[in-house]
Amino acid sequence: MARERLDKLLSSTGLWSRKEVKDLVRQGRVLAEGVPVRRPEEKYDPMTDRIQVDGETVDCAPFVYVMMNKPAGLLSATEDKNQKTVLDLLPQHLRRRGLFPVGRLDKDTTGLLLLTDDGSLAHELLSPKKHVDKVYLARVEGRVDASDTAALGAGMVLGDGLHCLPAGLEPLGDGSSCLVTLREGKYHQVKRMLAARGKPVLALKRLSMGPLELDRELEAGEWRMLAPEELEALKRAVGAQ
Ligand code: URA
Repeated sequence: MARERLDKLLSSTGLWSRKEVKDLVRQGRVLAEGVPVRRPEEKYDPMTDRIQVDGETVDCAPFVYVMMNKPAGLLSATEDKNQKTVLDLLPQHLRRRGLFPVGRLDKDTTGLLLLTDDGSLAHELLSPKKHVDKVYLARVEGRVDASDTAALGAGMVLGDGLHCLPAGLEPLGDGSSCLVTLREGKYHQVKRMLAARGKPVLALKRLSMGPLELDRELEAGEWRMLAPEELEALKRAVGAQ
């Protein structure tokens, strides 16, 4: 990883402004590899040099990756004038970094949402060409059956002419729930496909995105950083590693 100026590295965490970093350095509160930093312009490698402020190690990784269990009722957006967004669940220093959701879930959809400031990984994960499957658990009115599996598998054309890529549908139990697997993410896609089959969606939850599975320990509204192995698996899935 290229070396970067300390003031840039520390301010990009969202915890301090560049001016505040200057003051911290002047006050001798910043150490790099155990040695006090003299000038905020000095360059370090954020992946290998240990940077500490007031004795606490600071993670200066260039990008942040957050797994959230999205609750119903919040928009998958970065801001909205009138309504709460998923960003409202994150602390200020992460919001300041400019994290955004990788793909949108509807306001009433729950489950796995990845938030990051890594635009290029987000782009790859959303590209239908990369074949990153997203799996949803849907509860429907009525019962799904093998005819629905065949229809989604053939690639549906919706009423407005929208062509969907072939998708998976696995009925669960008595057919009032099912797993739907999409490789793309068109607006309200699961709801529209199942409504077109006469089985409107009553509740929808995303369970996984490629190799990334929703952590069952996360309650609705909770989040955590991705583990290094989860990030590596995602990058491998899009051929970025
Ligand atoms: N499909 C939908 O209909 N809604 C979502 O939130 C995600 C996929």
